Amino acid sequence: MNHDIASIDLADGGRERTQWAAQTMPVLASIAERFAREKPLDGLGIGACLHVTTETANLMIALKAGGARVHLCASNPLSTQDDVAAHLVRDHGIAVFAVRGEDNDRYYEHIHAILSERPALTLDDGADLVSTIHNEHPDLIADLIGSMEETTTGVIRLKAMEKDGALKVPVVAVNDANTKHMFDNRYGTGQSSIDGILRATNALIAGTTFVIAGYGWCGRGLAFRARGMGANVVVTEVDPLKALEAVMDGFRVMPMDDVAPSGDIFVTVTGDINVIARRHFGMMKDGAIVANSGHFDCEIEKAALADMSEASKVPRASVETWTLPGGKRINLLGEGRLVNLSAAEGHPAAVMDMSFANQALCCEYLAKQTGRLEARVYSVPEEIDQRVAKLKLDAMGVKIDTLTAEQEEYLSSWKHGT
Ligand code: ADE
Repeated sequence: MNHDIASIDLADGGRERTQWAAQTMPVLASIAERFAREKPLDGLGIGACLHVTTETANLMIALKAGGARVHLCASNPLSTQDDVAAHLVRDHGIAVFAVRGEDNDRYYEHIHAILSERPALTLDDGADLVSTIHNEHPDLIADLIGSMEETTTGVIRLKAMEKDGALKVPVVAVNDANTKHMFDNRYGTGQSSIDGILRATNALIAGTTFVIAGYGWCGRGLAFRARGMGANVVVTEVDPLKALEAVMDGFRVMPMDDVAPSGDIFVTVTGDINVIARRHFGMMKDGAIVANSGHFDCEIEKAALADMSEASKVPRASVETWTLPGGKRINLLGEGRLVNLSAAEGHPAAVMDMSFANQALCCEYLAKQTGRLEARVYSVPEEIDQRVAKLKLDAMGVKIDTLTAEQEEYLSSWKHGT
């Protein structure tokens, strides 16, 4: 089997850690068991471009149990867990093309390796497979049943393609399922970004001015977790509604230009470019920590930081200290790539359980819909979203009430009043 990984010798560690993650992925496990019996993906080629983590490994294993031929590459050069890649290749016969720290050329070689298998379904985290298919391999479109997208940034990219009439395949926006973004983006990013900052720096969060750029689901989650650890949280926003929500959630809101001089820790989660720009580095305090938790490494203008600096060093793994003229030091984490995956292990398995249950069920859904969908961005069917929530509650041992016939009737009637 063709593959490109760091070292097959790492497979034992990857197996142990993947099984550890599986313990807190009961929803995905129940889907994998059913897939193994029913084989809903029998013979289908699936190409996945996802962060190569223990959680992703469990998704790949579930898809293979469903009968698919699975090929996996990384959706970020710095997020691959090499031991997991080795485990998938050695113990599951899954073709993985991912090496932690790969350069841009190798990253795209790996994307092309996945596409050379002519997948019938693709799974993206950031839309790199779908956009490479459209830009460089339109010949693959005819064989493609559809695609799934894991992240907000990818969905934005795909909706822009749809709006321009450029999208040629059906895509399911898995990110937009309630059981995905309300949990993964909020609690997953909230916790794992803090985890990445702590592993990289061992900084004390209590008492810091913790600046969060962007108050979407990820920013909200991060703001609540940082406050929970005793930080003074400041939010920067461009959207009046989100800014208002942040104010009413009890956070201070101000422009980045105003908070740059007083922030201790800065984290970008906007999905946009140069949110922390050249001028901000000039205003920051000595020792400021700057990190990104958005999908791409464009939110922090890191080339400007390098350009302004007289020296740089790597005092700890995942930290680059840049020294500006006059001696001020700015600490950039994880090369400005997602700090939760570059400096830590990404979201915990218990939350990825729901995200990847959605992915697995959407693969099955798309396979059943072969030829029936248009080249559009589709929502995850409501039935799948509800099923994932129900399965997660069941796995947690949480019971809920059901409507009585009288309550059902009341809710569906317009005749009741004062
Ligand atoms: N995205 C964020 N956290 C992740 C994880 N643990 N695995 C895969 N993708 C992720």
